[in-house]
Amino acid sequence: MQRTANITELRKLVAEKKRLGKAIALVPTMGYLHRGHLTLIENAKQTGAYVVVSIFVNPLQFGPNEDYARYPRDLERDARLVEEAGVDLLFHPSVEEMYPQPMVTFVEVSQLDKVLCGANRPGHFRGVTTVVSKLFHIVQPDIAFFGQKDYQQYLIIRRMVSDLNLPLEVRGVPIVREEDGLALSSRNVFLSAEQRQEALILSRSLREAEGLIKNGERSAREIEEFIRKTISRESQGLVDYIEVRDADDLSDVVNIERPVLIALAVRFGSTRLIDNKVVEVEPDV
Ligand code: PAF
Repeated sequence: MQRTANITELRKLVAEKKRLGKAIALVPTMGYLHRGHLTLIENAKQTGAYVVVSIFVNPLQFGPNEDYARYPRDLERDARLVEEAGVDLLFHPSVEEMYPQPMVTFVEVSQLDKVLCGANRPGHFRGVTTVVSKLFHIVQPDIAFFGQKDYQQYLIIRRMVSDLNLPLEVRGVPIVREEDGLALSSRNVFLSAEQRQEALILSRSLREAEGLIKNGERSAREIEEFIRKTISRESQGLVDYIEVRDADDLSDVVNIERPVLIALAVRFGSTRLIDNKVVEVEPDV
């Protein structure tokens, strides 16, 4: 595996592969890799492309009171993992390499970025879309992979690529969970044993909510209320949001008649976890 922290060198390495007719796949990450990331890499490898993984904890997407400073980092462990996973090139730029001067140019996907996590984390998605556009311009991939645990992020990036006619395909990869249902996240390391146990209520309440919809419940507000009550009954988690929204455009849903996204963000102590489920419904006849 080759690795570089330098944009010019990365461009050279990728250009060589392109000249040889290789397709380029990009898996953008913030490091501290887990099985979820490795699944993205596996999906990228299966395309037969030259696989580039980027590791960059992007300051632009963290608010002033968020966990940028304490976000877990371990570059050498990550480098070993991606090498074992068969990645061709690891790109791990510094903040100075990515942002040599204060940024005055941003990419913003409006509307989609105002709801769910966007409502609670102003500026977060602008930071994500700006860094992802930079990575797309730097690496120039033919295909890029994103986990659907950050479903809103995945939709926003898909929309950015479509609105700006960027010449690449965005692929979403389903959430990877622990055996007991907890969605994998780099932030899970911050949970105490007790919080981790309580956090299982997130995936369980989503599963039960799906069951209710499959059994005919069509009221989005009832589903949200059911999850809210379940979480507050069985944990100390503080709810940021629990919302049922249209799975394609995140618009508000009253009656569940099309595929919906049930999305939630809940704080356990100082750790904010997100999880979601997309539920398809049979049209009523
Ligand atoms: O999902 C993430 O890890 C980040 O938001 C991303 C896409 C790498 C941009 O910093």
